[in-house]
Amino acid sequence: MSTARFQFEYDVYNDTSELPEADALLLKKAREVTSLSYAPYSNFHVGAAARLINNEIVTGSNQENASYPVGICAERVLLGNAAMLFPEKGIQTLAISYWSKDLKSDHPISPCGMCRQALQEFEMRTAQPMRIILSGQEGKIFVIQTAAHLLPFAFTGNELG
Ligand code: THU
Repeated sequence: MSTARFQFEYDVYNDTSELPEADALLLKKAREVTSLSYAPYSNFHVGAAARLINNEIVTGSNQENASYPVGICAERVLLGNAAMLFPEKGIQTLAISYWSKDLKSDHPISPCGMCRQALQEFEMRTAQPMRIILSGQEGKIFVIQTAAHLLPFAFTGNELG
C-alpha cells in the first residue's frame, strides 16, 4: 500500500494594485460583465473574461431560466463564445467575478463542478494551460496556474479511446 497526495499552490493578492496590469484589466472586465448576467432567480450575477493566446478578450455571464436546470454558468457561456469567435485558440488567463444585491462581493468564488469539467477539457483540447483569476468586486484575489488543478482525477476523453 502507498499513499499518494494531490496538492497545488496558488497565489493570493490583497487587491488589484498588486496584480500585473494585464491581469488587473481582465479582472476589471469580469467584474463589469456581471451586469450582462441574466439572474432573476438567484440574484447571483457571475461575470467571466478571458484573454486568448491571440490576445483577444472574450466574456461570458450566467444566463438563467424559469426552468432552473436550463440556466448556464458564466464560464460555459464564455467557453462557447471563445470557441465560436476564435476557433482553436487557447485561453491564457480567465478571470471570474460576481455581484449580488443580497450579498457582499468581497471574496473569491470558484467554478462549479460542471464548469471545472468544461474548463479542463477546453484546456486539454487547446493544449494551453489556463491561468484562473478568482475575485469578488473587491477584496482578495486568487490566481491558479491551470484549470487542471481545480479538477483532480478528471474524467477525460482519453478514457473513451
Ligand atoms: N454560477 C456561475 O455562473 N458560475 C459559477 O462558477 C457558479 C455559479 C451561476 C449559476 C446560477 O445562475 C447562479 O450562479 C447561482 O448558482
